[in-house]
Amino acid sequence: MTNLFKSIPIRSSEITPKDAYLSRRDFMKAAGLVSGAALLNACAPSAANAAEDAESVPASSATDELGNIVNTYQEITSYNNYYEFSTNKEAVAPLSKGFTTAPWTVEVGGLVHKPKTFGVEDLLSLFPQEERIYRLRCVEAWSMVIPWNGFSLASLLKMVEPKSDAKYVRFETVFRPEEMKGQGSPFYPWPYQEGLRLDEAMNDLTLLATGMYGETILPQNGAPLRLVVPWKYGFKSIKSIVKIELTADRPNTLWNTVSTKEYGFYANVNPEVDHPRWSQASERRIGDLSRVPTLMFNGYGEQVAGLYEGMDLSLQF
Ligand code: MTE
Repeated sequence: MTNLFKSIPIRSSEITPKDAYLSRRDFMKAAGLVSGAALLNACAPSAANAAEDAESVPASSATDELGNIVNTYQEITSYNNYYEFSTNKEAVAPLSKGFTTAPWTVEVGGLVHKPKTFGVEDLLSLFPQEERIYRLRCVEAWSMVIPWNGFSLASLLKMVEPKSDAKYVRFETVFRPEEMKGQGSPFYPWPYQEGLRLDEAMNDLTLLATGMYGETILPQNGAPLRLVVPWKYGFKSIKSIVKIELTADRPNTLWNTVSTKEYGFYANVNPEVDHPRWSQASERRIGDLSRVPTLMFNGYGEQVAGLYEGMDLSLQF
């Protein structure tokens, strides 16, 4: 099923050359606008904190393949969901500052012929890093457009050679409560875990991100390695991964364990199926005042609809 769509991968490097945002950066710098742009984000108390980083990183006029302008570095790094640090989106950046991301290893095992533990530096040298601009749609009905750097999960999975009985992939976040105070909360079954069907994991869109805006990914965005599954609600895109396991059975996920009715395993973006607490028909793009209609599969239907042929999507929150 995956192969059907292999011929039309979305590589943002083909759509938006990196220098498109670099030239914008030069322009902004020349006009003295970079730090001004950072200050315009009135809703982020952490602006002062992130401004330091935002200053050295370009604002961007690059767009995704639908023409949506990417969010600023400042926006992407100061408004985050990361319950290991805080349930307050604006508190994540300051609380995760200095989080230990090296040394870091990722264990890839389970139903594979060649299980292996990779250092993040191995992953960076083994797999060519691509730039991909993806829409990120949170189930809370806000969204961003993010220029990630990383490599396809498929390339890593092929290297460990999945066995024929492997049907799912399970991902696990690091468990380090001494650094991640949120992991002391008894309300969540830590560590955070997520899962995909193997064919979803092998789809070319499914990315392991190591960077953002051409910079090393910051802790608040899931450093040093996080998943990005752009046609699913953001909670599937698990951060700070230490374990990837191929399984025969469907893995549990943190959010599905917390509330089965609210957070399904598939969690494909679908404007016609409302979350019990939020309509999913439209979304607020961070940085914009008005709402925009939400697209089926977050606009990636051409690449992924075939994965769900024959399934009743209205039952697949
Ligand atoms: N991964 C972990 N380990 N912990 C989390 O709380 N939040 C998820 C996802 N990955 C989360 C996580 C949710 S709900 C969203 S919307 C995205 O991360 C947000 O990613 P961002 O902060 O980089 O925009």
